Amino acid sequence: MSDTLSSWTKTSWRNFTALQQPNWPDQTDYDNALETISKLPPLVFAGEIRDLKALLAKASSGEAFLLQGGDCSEDFERCTAPDIRELLKVILQMAAILMYAGEKPIIMLGRMAGQYAKPRSSDTEIVNGVEIPSYRGDMVNDPEPVKEARIPDPQRMVKGYHLATATMNILRAFTRGGYAAMHRVHAWNNEFVKKSPRGQSYEKLARQIGKALEFMDIIGIDTDIPQLKQASFFTSHEALLLGYEEALTRQDSTTGDWYDCSAHMLWIGDRTRQLDGAHIEFLRGVLNPIGLKIGPSHDIDEIKKIITRLNPENEPGRLTLITRFGAKKIHNYLPHLVREIKKEGFSVVWICDPMHGNTYTAETGHKTRNFNEILQEILSFFEIHWDEDTVPGGIHFELTGENVTECTGGDRKIRDSELKLNYQTNCDPRLNADQSLALAFQIAELIAK
Ligand code: PEP
Ligand code: CO
Repeated sequence: MSDTLSSWTKTSWRNFTALQQPNWPDQTDYDNALETISKLPPLVFAGEIRDLKALLAKASSGEAFLLQGGDCSEDFERCTAPDIRELLKVILQMAAILMYAGEKPIIMLGRMAGQYAKPRSSDTEIVNGVEIPSYRGDMVNDPEPVKEARIPDPQRMVKGYHLATATMNILRAFTRGGYAAMHRVHAWNNEFVKKSPRGQSYEKLARQIGKALEFMDIIGIDTDIPQLKQASFFTSHEALLLGYEEALTRQDSTTGDWYDCSAHMLWIGDRTRQLDGAHIEFLRGVLNPIGLKIGPSHDIDEIKKIITRLNPENEPGRLTLITRFGAKKIHNYLPHLVREIKKEGFSVVWICDPMHGNTYTAETGHKTRNFNEILQEILSFFEIHWDEDTVPGGIHFELTGENVTECTGGDRKIRDSELKLNYQTNCDPRLNADQSLALAFQIAELIAK
């Protein structure tokens, strides 16, 4: 650790500048909400966090591949069993495709059970000529575009904690209770996807997996084992609201180490990764795996210093670099970044977020992303890593299990004019189930290479 820094505590971030924090109207209400959360049980346990870190260490050397995905911003009203199940199903399907066709263990990491806070480009927005606070995620305010709804309410953090707990609980039930068993690989295909060409390819793959399991049964290999009957599923979100993260930071009784128990993995957004900012200060002291988003605005020397600060021991699996340059810019930035990081000997997991650099506004006014650009950024990501002899270790998506029309293109060739048909997101546009499977098939081929 750098000697200029004083020692870390879970509150030391308060001495640094924290960007992107809401303007909470009342300090006492805010303090009371955090006090309540700090007494409630952790959402995840230190042992699980260590398991994820060990898996990520494998991803850094190419022995596993990370699939991170979920909503841009989880919606309180969509914290229902069917909504969570549909999203989980797509992630399970994608993992089955990547595992079977890509021939690699897949680490499933949801943007789920706590992805409730959003950084924004501006504190306020103009709606019908009136200036109102920006929507900052359901844990802060309500998306309805009226002034009263947009006033930050700290009780939303308490509600967010409870909904994250409910989400975690049902995820654990689905993934441990038989739903995610490989024997059920057929059942994950949904009605909407079944009719599409990708859905058909998925059915074929599911039949092959089913046959392999039957064959194992016939020759007497036990398939009633946890590796086939259960899935390991981890959670992650952007560690944006540092008061909330602090309230869930707990000391592991067996080791005395500190873990942020709001999720297994936390990431730092592209807008809050200042070397001397509060987010870096907070996350340097917890032992979770940490993600760092890197977009075109980065400064390479600052990134190196951030890496040293977050991972002074160069521990494999501790740090995941999530690059998000956009299909048009990735060639301008990624090769240089990769070379510089490699030269320093830093151990990192390289993953690609092909969503956040490819957002544009359609003529209809919808914020959207095009399937081909997303795919193009992924292809470039793999090619650049192959050229530089580094490991493309994973992928980071915003997606949903619903039949939404938020991103253009894909097999159904969604056009700008069709975005309005089922545009549901409160924040960024997500891939629908069909588009997600199509990308999984493409990525599987790249991983298998
Ligand atoms: C996000 O992941 O939703 C996000 C805001 O990303 P970034 O920090 O990369 O812009
Ligand atoms: Co987003």
